[in-house]
Amino acid sequence: MKLDEIRLGVNIDHVATVRNARGTNYPDPLKAAKIVKEAGGNGITAHLREDRRHILDKDIINLKKYNSLPLNLEMAVTDEMQKIALDVIPNAICLVPEKREERTTEGGLDVCNNITRLRSFLEPIKDKSIRVSLFIEPVEKQIDAANTIGADIIELHTGYFCNLYERNDKDYVEVLKVLEKAASYAHNLGLEVHAGHGLTTESVGLVSKIPEMKELNIGHAIISDSIFMGLRGAVQLMKQKINDARFLRIQE
Ligand code: PXP
Repeated sequence: MKLDEIRLGVNIDHVATVRNARGTNYPDPLKAAKIVKEAGGNGITAHLREDRRHILDKDIINLKKYNSLPLNLEMAVTDEMQKIALDVIPNAICLVPEKREERTTEGGLDVCNNITRLRSFLEPIKDKSIRVSLFIEPVEKQIDAANTIGADIIELHTGYFCNLYERNDKDYVEVLKVLEKAASYAHNLGLEVHAGHGLTTESVGLVSKIPEMKELNIGHAIISDSIFMGLRGAVQLMKQKINDARFLRIQE
C-alpha cells in the first residue's frame, strides 16, 4: 500500500480554555488557527460542547469565516448542534458522545444502538455535503454500523492506547493491534480512517505507522507543548517591554 502523508488536524479547544478562564478576548482560537496553518497543520478541529466550556459559538463562526484550513466541528448528537452545523457548514462534523461531568470525551459513540436517530440526524447534514465522521471505539460492529448509516469517516478513539503507552503498560501492544485491525477493516469497507485522543509526541509514532491512517486529530499535547516552546520568548518580550518603557522612555 502506498503511504500518503497523514493530515494533522489540530484541536484548538484549549486555547479557548485559557481565554475563558479569564474572560478576556485572548488567546484567540482564530489566531491559533493561523499559526497552525503557517506551521504546516492541515486542519482545525474544535469541539463545541453543550456547556460551552471552551470553544464558543462565535469561535466556530469566526473559524469558518476567516480561517483557511478545513474546519472539523466536533459535536454531540443534539438538535441544537445539528442546527449550528447546518448554519455554519463546516467541512466535516465529527460526532462524539458527550457527558457534562466528563473532563474530555471518554468513550466512542455507540453507533450500533442509535442507527435510527443517527440516520435522521445525518440526513440534512449530508444534503449539505458536509463530511461525516464518527468517533468510535475500534470495534468491528461499530465500524459496520458507521458504514451502514453512510458515514464518510471513522475516527478511532486512541485514548485507551495512549493511557497504557504513557504508563509504560505493555498491554498497549495488544491495543495497538486492535487499532491496526480496525483501520484495515474500515478501509476495506471504503471508510476513511482517522484517529485521535490522548496522542503525544511519544505515542504518535506507532499510530502513524498504521498504513490506512489518513488523519490524526491532536489537541491537548500540542497546546501543552506550545506553552514550554513559547514561554521563554513570552517572558523575554515582557521583560523587554518593561525595560524599554523604563529606560528608553518609550510610551506605549
Ligand atoms: N478527537 C476527538 C473526537 C476528541 O473528542 C478529541 C478531544 O476533544 C480529540 C480528538 C483530541 O484529543 P486530545 O486533546 O487528547 O489530543
